[in-house]
Amino acid sequence: MSWNAEGKHVLVTGGSAGIGAALAEGFAARGAVVGICGRREDKLGDVLARLQAHTPESRSWRVDLADLDGIDDFAAQANEELGGIDVLVNNAGIPKRRTVQALTPEVVESTMAINYYSPIRLTLALLPTLIERDGHIVNISSIAARLGPPGEAAYAATKAALTAWSESMAVDLRDTNVGVHVVNPAVIDTELFQLPDNDPAMIEDVEALPTDAMVEPVLRALDDGTFEVYVPEHFAQITQGKFNDPTAWIEGTKAYARSQNR
Ligand SMILES: NC(=O)c1ccc[n+]([C@@H]2O[C@H](COP(=O)([O-])OP(=O)(O)OC[C@H]3O[C@@H](n4cnc5c(N)ncnc54)[C@H](OP(=O)(O)O)[C@@H]3O)[C@@H](O)[C@H]2O)c1
Repeated sequence: MSWNAEGKHVLVTGGSAGIGAALAEGFAARGAVVGICGRREDKLGDVLARLQAHTPESRSWRVDLADLDGIDDFAAQANEELGGIDVLVNNAGIPKRRTVQALTPEVVESTMAINYYSPIRLTLALLPTLIERDGHIVNISSIAARLGPPGEAAYAATKAALTAWSESMAVDLRDTNVGVHVVNPAVIDTELFQLPDNDPAMIEDVEALPTDAMVEPVLRALDDGTFEVYVPEHFAQITQGKFNDPTAWIEGTKAYARSQNR
């Protein structure tokens, strides 16, 4: 079974590219009216044209979600112009591939702002409408939240925060009909691995999946209420192995990083 998107209103942050664009198209192709946002007007326009081919009421907004003080106004505008929101997909985010020795507090905090504080602000602003409409909150986290990747402390911490928030939120919303879902992509082929100001990614040993691979797992989770989803699925077992013996996992990751000359 796949969740029935027909007529639903879905807001996907970071819908101008990558995973967000694929999810937005997946929802629109199944009949949802989709709102997307991002900073790049041209990219938003390209994606929006594809969304509107399915659902002409779909919309886009140019917004910098790192500007936390602007988020309440953006939430109100998106909610108003979409006519209510049934699904919030907190997807917008940036990588930060840099060792702890090379990090500054400013970089740590700015990564936290876009990857953690911004989705939390948006969630809080939209919670009343999501509760009223028996909606869903989908937080695009990462396997980095669970596996402690080398050279990604600042990034992994933002995603671990988002995951921890989601776990508690799912419990707090127990007397509502809001579904809370966390999605942990492993390596999905997007611009995220080419962005400047980042060390090269250590992903040679992991198969990069196309962005489309994200769509069905998210729709299945909406349908069956699954809280945590891994893409691909076998990363759930890998994570379980880490939880069983964190010391061995960290020693193994040190050896791996050395083998990559890091
Ligand atoms: N790709 C992977 O393998 C992978 C793995 C684990 C988790 N993830 C997570 O998946 C999410 C999507 O990543 P992706 O791989 O699709 O990366 P991407 O191709 O770089 O896309 C990132 C999206 O976020 C938007 N964004 C970034 N900063 C923003 C800001 N300040 N304000 C508004 N929008 C902003 C970008 O739009 P603009 O540039 O137009 O603003 C873009 O639409 C991220 O949260 C990422 O951490 C990805």
